[in-house]
Amino acid sequence: MRIISKERDEIILLALHSEEIGKGDYLLIEDLDGKRGLLVQVYDEEYHNTQSLLEDMIRDEVVNAASRCNPYDPLEIGDIARIVRDARLLRCKIRASVEDDRLSYTASWLPSRVSSRIRRVDMLELNSLIQSGGRASGIGRGRGEGMVTIDTPKMRPIEIGYSKDGETITIYAEDLDGKLNLITGKKGSGKSHLAKSIIKSLAEYGAYIFVLDLNNEYLGLAWRHDGGKSSIGDKVLFLEPGRGLRFTLDYLGKGPIASMLKYALEIPAASLREFFRIWDTLVSRNRLSISNLIESVAGWRSNELVKDALASRLHTMLTSGLFTDSNGVKVEDIIRERSNGAIAIIGMGKTTPVVRRMTVELLLSKLVELLEQGKIPPIFLFAEEAHLYLRDTYWEDIVTRMRHFGVFTTFITNQPDAISDSIYRQLDNIFLFNFTNENDLEKIARASMIDAESVKSIVRTLPAKHCMVIGSVVNNLPLVMMTMQPEVLMLGETKRFFSNKRISTPPSS
Ligand SMILES: Nc1ncnc2c1ncn2[C@@H]1O[C@H](COP(=O)(O)OP(=O)(O)O)[C@@H](O)[C@H]1O
Ligand SMILES: [Mg+2]
Repeated sequence: MRIISKERDEIILLALHSEEIGKGDYLLIEDLDGKRGLLVQVYDEEYHNTQSLLEDMIRDEVVNAASRCNPYDPLEIGDIARIVRDARLLRCKIRASVEDDRLSYTASWLPSRVSSRIRRVDMLELNSLIQSGGRASGIGRGRGEGMVTIDTPKMRPIEIGYSKDGETITIYAEDLDGKLNLITGKKGSGKSHLAKSIIKSLAEYGAYIFVLDLNNEYLGLAWRHDGGKSSIGDKVLFLEPGRGLRFTLDYLGKGPIASMLKYALEIPAASLREFFRIWDTLVSRNRLSISNLIESVAGWRSNELVKDALASRLHTMLTSGLFTDSNGVKVEDIIRERSNGAIAIIGMGKTTPVVRRMTVELLLSKLVELLEQGKIPPIFLFAEEAHLYLRDTYWEDIVTRMRHFGVFTTFITNQPDAISDSIYRQLDNIFLFNFTNENDLEKIARASMIDAESVKSIVRTLPAKHCMVIGSVVNNLPLVMMTMQPEVLMLGETKRFFSNKRISTPPSS
């Protein structure tokens, strides 16, 4: 390999076809004495095209077409000509510089075009380079063995995938703690699958996780492929709004109910005041319940419009099934009963959009309230297609106030444009699967933390189950990996009409 040129943060290399280097690979361009090196990542490859080469190829074609026998070539010049024609230009981004075995993210020197040595950096070496930079992300060979020890106190490895060479890629739970993450890619690319493997590992380490599940697919976490209970089976709790997920009004309290009425049911302000007046009267008589609220509204002397507004909201609350007069869910209890971590899956697959919004409104405001009062430990929130149920003002809240109190969110979506720019600016990690749609690519390339060219070029050609990991979990050295197949059952295939039908030929007459 040879350096051809450098433009801003980009280096263009010449490589022969036989040198097996592809998109996403890391190369080290070292000075002759080996003291300094530039760490670059290949993001695109193309043919090298010069006028003379083109003329040469045309001449060859013409000669081949005209002559029937093998041309006389005693010096085997033809072979060399073929190698020259197959040479490639590799477009690389400068990711870091290595000086005296230490990694730094600024590179202000130009390597020699004549004497530099260029070689591929495998995952193990890449990892040790990252370690020397004082940060962590471990990559070992095979399951568990060969793990690189780290000096920073990161004790909780999560194996999330494999590199091109089959090396295990490990991130650390500590790097997800307190962070805001995004998993995005087109439908069927493997987003939920990756989310499940991260959730499983977090739960093994004793974390508390809430999943807003739109396809009721995360329940598979409790089971293994062979039908037995998985290692985290006892920690999984499946709550469906109206079935397992019901609250008493008394437990929720005014705050969450007010947010739900305001944002999910869009109650006018005057009606909300009236609602709480009735609420207070019932509380003072120790008779707070949905049915008593409905009864009181019917007999309440007030403006008919206000009464109608209240009655219709109460009716929605009643039919949602989210409320009960006794034995409601208590988040503190879920956590107390599972001292080694829990996964609470809020299964909203069969829930109507209104009830979805009500559920999320109640749950999030209650969680924040409990966190504010120090009654529960911080939690990880995994939200699938959050734009379908999260109100606009919550997005900001999630990255600021909620994160401060201890709700660490991972958004999972196939619509990158549904997420606002202010969220993108706050992201710590992005797990980026394939996108082919130009608009989506454009959006995600502009919004991700690294340069747009490499995102676009690498993501466009990612196969299914492969993703590009960007951010602090990989210490800002973007990696391409294939996601892991964990032992748990991966529900989540879309129901199909034809898949289970046997093909039957029509009877012939
Ligand atoms: N690494 C993997 N190994 C095996 N199967 C996978 C892997 N990643 C994804 N799949 C399977 O591919 C299908 C689509 O993945 P899924 O995560 O549901 O996609 P998405 O959430 O992006 O629509 C699922 O059936 C899933 O089990
Ligand atoms: Mg999915």
